[in-house]
Amino acid sequence: MPEQPLSTESAAFRAALDVIRAVEPRVADAIGQEIADQREMLKLIASENYASPATLLAMGNWFSDKYAEGTVGRRFYAGCRNVDTVESLAAEHAKELFGARHAYVQPHSGIDANLVAFWAVLAQRVEAPALEKAGVRQVNDLSEEDWAELRRAFGNQRMLGMSLDAGGHLTHGFRPNISGKMFDQRSYGTDPVTGLIDYEALRASAREFRPLIIVAGYSAYPRLVNFRIMREIADEVGATLMVDMAHFAGLVAGKVLTGDFDPIPHAQIVTTTTHKSLRGPRGGMVLCDDSLKDQVDRGCPMVLGGPLPHVMAAKAVALAEARQESFRDYARRIVDNSRALAEGLVRRGATLVTGGTDNHLNLIDVASSYGLTGRQAEAALLESGIVTNRNAIPADPNGAWYTSGIRIGTPALTTRGLGVAEMDEIAGLIDRVLTEAVPGTTGKGTPSKAQHALDLKVADEVARRASDLLTGFPLYPEIDLS
Ligand SMILES: Cc1ncc(COP(=O)(O)O)c(C=O)c1O
Repeated sequence: MPEQPLSTESAAFRAALDVIRAVEPRVADAIGQEIADQREMLKLIASENYASPATLLAMGNWFSDKYAEGTVGRRFYAGCRNVDTVESLAAEHAKELFGARHAYVQPHSGIDANLVAFWAVLAQRVEAPALEKAGVRQVNDLSEEDWAELRRAFGNQRMLGMSLDAGGHLTHGFRPNISGKMFDQRSYGTDPVTGLIDYEALRASAREFRPLIIVAGYSAYPRLVNFRIMREIADEVGATLMVDMAHFAGLVAGKVLTGDFDPIPHAQIVTTTTHKSLRGPRGGMVLCDDSLKDQVDRGCPMVLGGPLPHVMAAKAVALAEARQESFRDYARRIVDNSRALAEGLVRRGATLVTGGTDNHLNLIDVASSYGLTGRQAEAALLESGIVTNRNAIPADPNGAWYTSGIRIGTPALTTRGLGVAEMDEIAGLIDRVLTEAVPGTTGKGTPSKAQHALDLKVADEVARRASDLLTGFPLYPEIDLS
């Protein structure tokens, strides 16, 4: 048989690994092992994906060496014309893709994007009036007294964000994160019966609390959020609506979330990561209307140092990919797969938070369905070749560490090409493992929330079936490193 010609992607990654191996072979080996592991894993982590070879390759180059503080055409460093090119391209693609007025593509991650957004709103709504009152143009011109007063005012602002057990994120004003140390935060939750956001309770809370910022967005809520209603509530109480679409940006980009469920037309400011359902490089981004553009562009030096030009280059590539028609099909398939997983689990008797899903993720209540903690379920599934993560559920009886939930998401497996038939089979595998797993005991023989027991035969059988399933859907089929 004639030998297959080596693909461009295989040649590129082989050459890169050879170059790395010549300096530190253990790093080259770890990189090679990572793709081998990822190929073997049934990855259901809702916040992970597989970026394209073009996106990955755009990051490994000399852009990494360049300092480019400032914005396009207005840098604190000389020699930034090529960085200007990639930053402009990424921003243009983002604006076109999302229909946003302005895009700031410098944040290094989701937490940075949120910090930029918080401080942009604080600059607009707290700092600017203070400067005007003092009759000065910038903070350096304030008297010591006025500066002290402004700093007190910064520390005295309120935020309303989704509670953690309802699916909110730590960066939305929770004490362990800097956002919780900056803002006086109050949470809104979900209806205890339906599991859905209770907009009337949210409205009542906003009326009483009168926050400066209302944050919408989540990392573990399996349903749609009505951003039109959220904006109405924000306007009523004089708050700025910020949406963190880190998890569902791919569904917005792919036009699965439109109208009331598309945050861009409704929120003054929208943040996202670029590496989850959007399938880009690890990073963040802020989109906003004209009123906040100048403040957002001051993300550096406000909360960021120099941008990562190599990652901005990769963002430009990934956003160009997301503008292709095929991405819309991808986004639709993510949700079809998520629904198929939900149906498969419910049919087998599992209880899901809210009873199902409208987006890319599901939350299984493993405590009421299988008598396990999230931690036990996560470990049993991992032993069986299924990678998930535990997550709190509303009013979680097992708390935020052990939890009662398992979060599963479909962006990654959908990228590999798995479809609804495979999702049903995966639901069966998950159900089998969780039915067979039992809570374990501590060394002293008392009940443990961490330990579990699972028949090795079951774990092996499921892991083998998961691996067989994946061989039909090779990850990066164009890359052969052997
Ligand atoms: C809703 C949301 N916002 C922000 C973040 C933080 O993103 P990063 O890990 O890139 O800082 C996450 C990540 O888990 C998230 O789910």
